[in-house]
Amino acid sequence: MRAVTPAPEAKPFLKWVGGKRQLLPVLRTYYPATVSGYHEPFLGSGAVFFDLWTSGRLAGCPVWLSDENPDLVGCYLRIRDAADALIGELGRLAEGHAQGGRTFYYEVRDQLFNPRRAAWAAADGTPEAYPVDLAAALLYLNKTGYNGLFRLNQKGGYNVPAGRYTRPRIVHAERIRAASAALATPGISIACRSFDRVAEEARPGDFVYFDPPYAPLGPTSNFRQYTARGFSDADQARLQALAVGLAGRGVQVLLSNSSADSIVRLYGERTAHSAGLRIRRVPARRAVNTRADRRGPVEELLVSNLPPVA
Ligand SMILES: C[S@@+](CC[C@H](N)C(=O)[O-])C[C@H]1O[C@@H](n2cnc3c(N)ncnc32)[C@H](O)[C@@H]1O
Repeated sequence: MRAVTPAPEAKPFLKWVGGKRQLLPVLRTYYPATVSGYHEPFLGSGAVFFDLWTSGRLAGCPVWLSDENPDLVGCYLRIRDAADALIGELGRLAEGHAQGGRTFYYEVRDQLFNPRRAAWAAADGTPEAYPVDLAAALLYLNKTGYNGLFRLNQKGGYNVPAGRYTRPRIVHAERIRAASAALATPGISIACRSFDRVAEEARPGDFVYFDPPYAPLGPTSNFRQYTARGFSDADQARLQALAVGLAGRGVQVLLSNSSADSIVRLYGERTAHSAGLRIRRVPARRAVNTRADRRGPVEELLVSNLPPVA
């Protein structure tokens, strides 16, 4: 077994709905002893990537990070390449917020972010061309808006209301620099694309962590609209087939999802069991639910062909 030397600490720089920070203690019990390559195709705030990176397990191995949300990926690219410029822009926004509070939030959202985003989308729309000031504004909105939601209306306008924070921490320069250094490690690729591409890239011995938008537990249940087209039951089924195929060819797979009946059924199928995938229920908390009484503890599922280490 290769000795693992911890790297400098890096953590998520965004709040993200479904972020896995709270679940890390249990997810860590599944981390494999050796990783020849790492894939995280539902990146979000990257809680597991940053945790693995900090633990030193990813040293020297290729890493593929991706998500279908181009704003999110654009933000990662600018954090990686232009951290100082971004911190400067964010500092100016933090000063404005200290003066103007919620009014300033709506000015930034409606008079800065949305027009700049529309111009970017019309001209190019790729994460590679995501402007630094747009990334800074997104980070500002993320830290001060409601619950770290990212939501666009049909015209592509960000429409999340202001959050209710008395003194939000907007500029976390050290965290941004640490994330930037981690993301700039040679061998890490960051792309905007759907999860399916992992099928072509993952090799036996690689580790894949899948954290898709969770299947809803009920008709009015949790938010899952991270991207314009959402995540359907057919997407969940395609993901199950991918996870089964990867596990069957010796890829180390870990997946989290809700404990919706449809998901229990999918991963309880014989093909999943034959590929070595096992289901475990763990207690979890969900922050985003329109009904406060449904925000209590719920169970979620972990599915893996790795044995958890106590
Ligand atoms: C539950 S969140 C991931 C949270 C992440 N693990 C964290 O710690 O923040 C799911 C992510 O999947 C992304 N997503 C939605 N549909 C996708 C698709 N078809 N392919 C890839 N990513 C997708 C969303 O943009 C969102 O960031």
